[in-house]
Amino acid sequence: MSDSAPSFKPPSTLLIVGSGVFGLSTAYALTKRPEWASTQITVLDRAGGSASIPQRPVFPSRDASSIDSSRIIRADYADPAYAALASAAQAEWRKPGPDSIGGDGRYTETGFLLVADNEPPLVRNARGLEVKSGMGFAREAYANAAAHARHSGREGDGNGDWVQPLDGREAIRNATTTGAELGDWGYLNRGSGWANAERAMAWFYEKVRRTGRVKFASGTVMRLEVDADQRRVVGAKLADGRSLRAELVVVAAGAWTPSLVDLRGQAVATGQVLGYMDITPEEQARLGKAPVLMNMTHGTFLIPPSNRVLKIGLHGYGYQNPTKVTSCLTVPKQHKSSSDFTSSGARKKAGEEHFPEIAVSQPLTHLDDPTLWMPASGERALRKGLRAMVPWPSVADRPFNANRVCWYTDTPTGDFLVTYHPYWNGLFVATGGSGHGFKFLPVLGEHIADNIMGRCTPILKDKWAWKEVADVEQAIVTEDGSRGGQAGLILRTELRKNGPRI
Ligand SMILES: *[C@@H]1O[C@H](CO)[C@@H](O)[C@H](O)[C@H]1NC(C)=O
Ligand SMILES: *[C@@H]1O[C@H](CO)[C@@H](O)[C@H](O)[C@H]1NC(C)=O
Repeated sequence: MSDSAPSFKPPSTLLIVGSGVFGLSTAYALTKRPEWASTQITVLDRAGGSASIPQRPVFPSRDASSIDSSRIIRADYADPAYAALASAAQAEWRKPGPDSIGGDGRYTETGFLLVADNEPPLVRNARGLEVKSGMGFAREAYANAAAHARHSGREGDGNGDWVQPLDGREAIRNATTTGAELGDWGYLNRGSGWANAERAMAWFYEKVRRTGRVKFASGTVMRLEVDADQRRVVGAKLADGRSLRAELVVVAAGAWTPSLVDLRGQAVATGQVLGYMDITPEEQARLGKAPVLMNMTHGTFLIPPSNRVLKIGLHGYGYQNPTKVTSCLTVPKQHKSSSDFTSSGARKKAGEEHFPEIAVSQPLTHLDDPTLWMPASGERALRKGLRAMVPWPSVADRPFNANRVCWYTDTPTGDFLVTYHPYWNGLFVATGGSGHGFKFLPVLGEHIADNIMGRCTPILKDKWAWKEVADVEQAIVTEDGSRGGQAGLILRTELRKNGPRI
């Protein structure tokens, strides 16, 4: 594998599948590296537009998980490696001005309030494994955030402590500003906030486009193309019949990645529910100043509204949508033996053995089905969370007037998957955002580029590596302490139970 730094030779052609956070940031980082100056870089995306302007390609596609009104920007992590990476990203988000990613209102620092119910730091999950609880996550995240505040000299900014523990219901109620008495223990980090994701992506896309180094192409990949003799991925076949060839293919297609590359045991697409509610100018005035609220025990979160739209989400185990596909590039079963030759000695055609029919969880979005409405089970969880976080009679029963099923690419540990493929040459995957990738947009590409060039720090290389998995059929459940709700729900089964809207 072209993985050791001194011998790294950039490819003459590079195809990046996906123009989301992972793909765009990688493309940008590579345009700045002299070694890549003569590489032809193409970024491909389905680029699906809105229902009203379906023909105009948009990067990324409107149902990408990076496209939304808001995303939490926090460095509040139980894991010090992500806490450090997120702090570096935050420094970028905070820079003002039109030439900065967070400038012109793309980032708002309202603070982040993380609360949990009383529970031991480790709890047993449904499979009997000991995993971090919401409280366990909150306590560790606090320790990291407070340590970071001390190092960066922002402790005590004249406005109370920058990172402030909240011991008990009254302290929490004071900090929520909504009157909500959430949880038993938590903390407020004034150095966190939220970003307008859609505007930040548009800004970043413009920045990449203006380099003049990247060709943006619109099209849907049916499957990757391989040269089986050389165990090599050589390009991608598109739905419209075109073939795009490249010496190196980076698949950064978010939740669509597991439909193109067999990631069983590595990563799975899960649908997460989001509800949006129109609010009055008075409600906007009150809620606009609230911190981001996150209920670590149940996974519900609320981002302060802008433009009189309140958004509430559930960072949970999500819904899976198992679907049979023959588009997914797998590793031949006995690749170490000669059995990939038929008895006559002729090689089997790629397509039979490399793309067998397998079931993968495939995203189902409002672009596939404009009438899609989240499962009632998810809507009930959002409603309960809303009532807990904004305990006002005026919003308690007001219907959500928009919703989304947002597709995460979940890994068992919540670590990203950024690595060369262990079997296929010329194939690199950059995915596994696990619902917490967006905030890294300003810095992630540099680390992915380092990884492609074999220069990644050992800690990140190890965290983002392809994992040894004993049983690839075992369902992936992300157990990093940040998820709530019920694991193992099937989207189509839950959708069938939808009654009238709550
Ligand atoms: C909550 O706020 C009230 C009113 O400002 C104050 O008197 C009280 O001490 C605060 N409680 C805590 C625990 O911070
Ligand atoms: C989390 O939300 C649930 C309802 O969704 C509520 O019962 C619980 O008290 C909340 N806990 C915290 C810590 O906010």
